[in-house]
Amino acid sequence: MAVTRTFSIIKPDATRRNLTGAVTKMLEDAGLRVVASKRIHMTREQAEGFYGVHRERPFFGELVDFMMSEPVVVQVLEGEDAVTRNRDIMGATNPADAAPGTIRKELALSIGENTVHGSDSEENAAIEIAFFFNEDEIVG
Ligand code: TYD
Repeated sequence: MAVTRTFSIIKPDATRRNLTGAVTKMLEDAGLRVVASKRIHMTREQAEGFYGVHRERPFFGELVDFMMSEPVVVQVLEGEDAVTRNRDIMGATNPADAAPGTIRKELALSIGENTVHGSDSEENAAIEIAFFFNEDEIVG
């Protein structure tokens, strides 16, 4: 299996509860390596742009407000089949449906405050990484 990259966000519910390290440890224990990381406070423009695909969904306004509510940690993760590996350790979108041992089952508060974002395809990973990082900020 090829070593690839994915994009992750440790969301405001996690930074607020001081769980940046706990989330990162679960990612690392799952075989992912953090090759870029920065703590930012998203602007409305960034949050709306990043989640633009959900613009027409009923939860869009709430999602944008949440993502701007506290700082987040944006990360590039590297590993074998990184997109799938990350989605597996994240767990289902709604923590009530997430498998035991996943980040969302163990740490998330609700379907909205669900602790982590992870790219859903390699194509989107490349787009999302470029949205927040310059290539020289990624050190593999
Ligand atoms: P989505 O891309 O469907 O899920 P995932 O993060 O697992 O890829 O949705 C993006 C985010 O939108 C999700 O993490 C939380 C929020 N969301 C809600 O607040 N309510 C909802 O009903 C859904 C489907 C998503």
